[in-house]
Amino acid sequence: MSCEQALVFDGVTVRYGPDTAPVLADVAFSLAARERAALVGLNGSGKTTLLMAAVGLIGHEGGIRVCGTPVAKRTAAEVRGKVGFLFNVPEDQLLFPKVIEDAAFGLLRRGEARTEAYRRAAEALGDFGVGRLAEWPLHNLSHGQKQRVALAGALVTKPPLLLLDEPSAGLDPPGRLALARLLDRLDAAMLVATHDLDFAVRFCHRFIALDAGRIVYDGGDASTVRRTWGMEE
Ligand SMILES: Nc1ncnc2c1ncn2[C@@H]1O[C@H](COP(=O)(O)OP(=O)(O)OP(=O)(O)O)[C@@H](O)[C@H]1O
Ligand SMILES: [Mg+2]
Repeated sequence: MSCEQALVFDGVTVRYGPDTAPVLADVAFSLAARERAALVGLNGSGKTTLLMAAVGLIGHEGGIRVCGTPVAKRTAAEVRGKVGFLFNVPEDQLLFPKVIEDAAFGLLRRGEARTEAYRRAAEALGDFGVGRLAEWPLHNLSHGQKQRVALAGALVTKPPLLLLDEPSAGLDPPGRLALARLLDRLDAAMLVATHDLDFAVRFCHRFIALDAGRIVYDGGDASTVRRTWGMEE
């Protein structure tokens, strides 16, 4: 599955309460097919909120489209089918007792036969260096291992759009490098919230910076991003 405009935000505002100040204000950008952007900004600037709004997990004013589909309650299933989503905390998306069941879930939900789903899930776990843990109970895994299983589950269906919230968090340095290389090989469009610019520059050429819920930079100059958002010593 491909799509010309993978993600469009058209004047999007998000509030967590009816009378509270917006945490995203008039956000507008679009991501073409196969385009990759890092989403940067200080703690509390709105990165996680933006990713959650993009798949309809948080309500919004304005327009959001995923591969042409408007994000709304009635389109939730269609939108989720086009997106590989990595939550900020792996426990939020690992729902099954055993690793392989979790990694295969996205494929089974699409109606893939069990044998084929498990074969592909095992392959995805292998890609993230946790193939040997396929039969393990999830609660026996370390944080970084859970992160790897969650990544395998997000990518297993090969969706045209990936929305990843701090994917390198908790990974060891070789794991971080392997993930950057793996993402760099994919055809999917991706928006990756991260504080890890050394990681992001390996596969992103566009940087979208949020400050207090507004886009304050959208361009390809990594050194500006480093200087302005304190991403260097
Ligand atoms: N459930 C919630 N209810 C009310 N306010 C919230 C809620 N979740 C987040 N916020 C507020 O929204 C703003 C943006 O938070 P968000 O988690 O999107 O930031 P972030 O850029 O992802 O930060 P970090 O770098 O720490 O992950 C913050 O001011 C936060 O306090
Ligand atoms: Mg966040």
